[in-house]
Amino acid sequence: MAYFNTLALGVCYYPEHWEEGLWRDDLRRMEENGISVIRIAEFAWNKVENEEGKFDFSFFDRFLDVVETTGIKVIFCTPTATPPAWLTQKYPEVLTVDLDGKKQHHGARRHYNYNSPVYREKTRIIVEQLAKHYGGRKCIIGWQIDNELNCVNSEFYADADHKAFRVFLKEKYKSLEALNEAWGTVFWNQTYTAWEQVCLPRHTMRDTSNPHLRLDSIRFFSESCIGYCRLQYDLLKEYLPEGVFVTTNGLFPHVNYRRMVEEALDFITYDSYPEFGLMEGADHLKDRKWSMNLARARGCGESFGIMEQQSGPGGWYNFRVAPTAKPGQIRLWTYQSIANGADFVSYFRWRTCLFGTEIYWHGILNYDNLDNRRLKEIRGIGEELKRLKGMAGSAYRAKVAILYDYDNEWDGETDVWHGPLRRHSHLGLFEALQKEHIPFDYVTVGPDMDKESLSRYEAVFAPHMTIVDPLAVQAISEYVAGGGKFIAGARSGYKDLNGKCPMAVMPVGMDQLFGIQILDFTAVMKDAPKVCGVMDGERLEMPLFHDILTPVSDSCQVMAVYDSDYYEGEAAVTRNRFGQGEAWYFGAAFSCETAKKLLKAMGIRKEAEKWTDVPSCCEIALRDGKEKSWLFVLNYENREVEIQVKKPLKDELSGKEYFGKCKLMPYGVLVFALKEVEN
Ligand code: GAL
Repeated sequence: MAYFNTLALGVCYYPEHWEEGLWRDDLRRMEENGISVIRIAEFAWNKVENEEGKFDFSFFDRFLDVVETTGIKVIFCTPTATPPAWLTQKYPEVLTVDLDGKKQHHGARRHYNYNSPVYREKTRIIVEQLAKHYGGRKCIIGWQIDNELNCVNSEFYADADHKAFRVFLKEKYKSLEALNEAWGTVFWNQTYTAWEQVCLPRHTMRDTSNPHLRLDSIRFFSESCIGYCRLQYDLLKEYLPEGVFVTTNGLFPHVNYRRMVEEALDFITYDSYPEFGLMEGADHLKDRKWSMNLARARGCGESFGIMEQQSGPGGWYNFRVAPTAKPGQIRLWTYQSIANGADFVSYFRWRTCLFGTEIYWHGILNYDNLDNRRLKEIRGIGEELKRLKGMAGSAYRAKVAILYDYDNEWDGETDVWHGPLRRHSHLGLFEALQKEHIPFDYVTVGPDMDKESLSRYEAVFAPHMTIVDPLAVQAISEYVAGGGKFIAGARSGYKDLNGKCPMAVMPVGMDQLFGIQILDFTAVMKDAPKVCGVMDGERLEMPLFHDILTPVSDSCQVMAVYDSDYYEGEAAVTRNRFGQGEAWYFGAAFSCETAKKLLKAMGIRKEAEKWTDVPSCCEIALRDGKEKSWLFVLNYENREVEIQVKKPLKDELSGKEYFGKCKLMPYGVLVFALKEVEN
């Protein structure tokens, strides 16, 4: 269901930070500057329950009364990210505990644990009170649960968590024998003889505890987070009028967001701070890398929005300093979100706070409260969005998918072979697809990944399917048999769902699909002589790991061989004709250069080449609406670039026609209207 009919701009506002006399003027200025939605109350528990069980709704009643004199709409938040001091003082067991057993005390945020029975009860009470009291307010269009679940901390080791972990495991394994078997506890005499002996990971000698326990513990952290979100979602839905949405803002580690959206949200919102990519130490993809996160947000459900979009320079009192967005950059990042599928963009925050931990984290306005160039830029965006009628709810167009696999991501945290490959390949693939102008989607590996969901794509990448889910293999095989192109990287197919290695030839369960066996392999050491692949006479980088491939099927063709070492001449890349399609196996991790060559060899073409030719420093994206499509061109560089427009096209933002050789200004954005919806 689409919750936004038109692209809307919003802003995070904290009425509790300001004199009440400022509220009216702030709201007026927001409206004048094209902001039509505010998000409020996510940390303001004491404003409603300053003493246990005593509720006073007058503060937000007064504020919402003022809001209702304007046209502004509200996203109201549950305040559970910041439990009050009275609560943590009286019930210290709600405080979160880290791996070292240290409690996190009152004074910052996110200092609670999801599994504390007391905290769950206090959550239930405050959420129900808020929903009952404010739920019917006309100005409230949606609710945000908590704030950034799993941010800062995504592992929880309080007593309540250890207990809940045992419940989770009992449900999963039914018996201790089954758990011992699944975790291979016979190794190093880890065998459990009573449930009370089973705990979340704790410090062990050289921190080498059981990897299968570790994998299940991360699955449990995700379940805990989703379960806590669902507790709030179910309560809110009991009280909220039809059509009022419930979301939360992500994306953070150790949460399966696809499941969270399915089970505990109407849609996800993402907090987009591309400026992290411009801080010292960030990698070369800089702010453009945020398109990768946006693709993840898009892959979580049918639609998504941005709850916090960077509008001012970041910085906490103990956190890295960041530069101020240069003229054009807020606009660029806003369109980066929209180009990638967001239907709603809310800036963080209206005015910079004059006190507290985030005293240096700037919003749109500075401390002085004067209109400034950032507000002017946002006002301009608001004007432009009016020209993008029909875009809200339109679909992002991608013909390539990358499988997003939570089991493998989490197992990769302890798998010294596969973990580094995964990180390298996700970046390499993203960079190649960005620079080649081939938009892609992430598709989450899970029960709803089937032949149909994959068939929308011409090609599907599974960077490293180390843990093999037989259902995923079935879906992939059907997709390939039906004509799809599938490619997996090194270390695919050597673990079962417990993260254990079956006694079978690799790629386990996928030998038919790929038509190969992997009988030898090696990790690649940094200082070892470089071994490459050779494909069509061209060198192919083969980073980090080498699977040495043995074709075993007549339909399998060797596409590249290794150029040196003891496996010189052995297969490095293979292609198996399987049904109507092709299953490729690539024996290493994907670097950008290699991924580009593989895309070419697989026949995947640039998406927008019939309309434009733009330099690789620009991002290309397409959205398909009911009546027309839009082609976005985003320039991340602080310099003018030249683009080639092959057919006369109108930029909807400026109303100008483009044809032939054209200039795109520093941080410039073009949104070309394409007359017909082209598939
Ligand atoms: C976000 C958070 C906001 C604010 C912002 C700037 O992660 O949700 O509450 O802290 O960062 O630091």
